Amino acid sequence: MIAVLDRTASLGIATELGEVFATAFAGEEHSDGVRFATEQLPTHAARDDFRLVAARLPQPGPLDTSGGPVVGFAYGFTGWPGQWWSDRIAAAISPDLAAEWIGGHFEVVELAVVPEAQGRGIGAALMTALVDGLPHRRMLLTTYADDRTAPRLYRRLGWQVLVQDLGWGSALYGLDTGVPGID
Ligand SMILES: CC(C)(COP(=O)(O)OP(=O)(O)OC[C@H]1O[C@@H](n2cnc3c(N)ncnc32)[C@H](O)[C@@H]1OP(=O)(O)O)[C@@H](O)C(=O)NCCC(=O)NCCS
Repeated sequence: MIAVLDRTASLGIATELGEVFATAFAGEEHSDGVRFATEQLPTHAARDDFRLVAARLPQPGPLDTSGGPVVGFAYGFTGWPGQWWSDRIAAAISPDLAAEWIGGHFEVVELAVVPEAQGRGIGAALMTALVDGLPHRRMLLTTYADDRTAPRLYRRLGWQVLVQDLGWGSALYGLDTGVPGID
């Protein structure tokens, strides 16, 4: 069960999302779920067109329609020059590529699924739901430069590799939706 949440609803479950974040990224440098819930998410939730999708496993029993705990989520917003990520990426790529892709793009910031729920298509379903119906012509994300589940998932969903290695082990992926909307 995947729900689309606005900023108020997302911040209302920030602690639960932080726990999912910490579990999914366990062992990585940036896996602090409390910092995610109290700093990163509130900052990003204030950005233009913020949208978060959350996956819950259905609970057994006919009376429960709310679903179980959150097992995965993804979110993004409209990115602009002057924001940390946009400026860092723009400085790392060619001016032509930056002019073409950065500014007014939909920026996918996080995708995370708890290990117990991985490998069932939830990550792909979250990414599909996150971008569904958005008016953005261009979408961007950074992911691992090496071969692993996340970059494979993005490529399967039609994202293209814009820069294989930005210089710090991350790759820049883009999706040209063809939608003649913003950007
Ligand atoms: C990346 C991540 C979100 C993917 O979530 P997920 O729910 O496992 O994603 P999916 O189930 O859609 O796909 C994962 C794999 O399961 C496979 N799969 C999906 N449904 C399946 C099914 N029904 N039966 C068998 N395999 C299946 C996919 O083909 C994929 O295989 P691959 O790794 O060999 O390419 C998750 O691994 C994660 O949270 N990782 C840690 C955090 C992270 O890396 N986030 C992304 C940062 S850029």
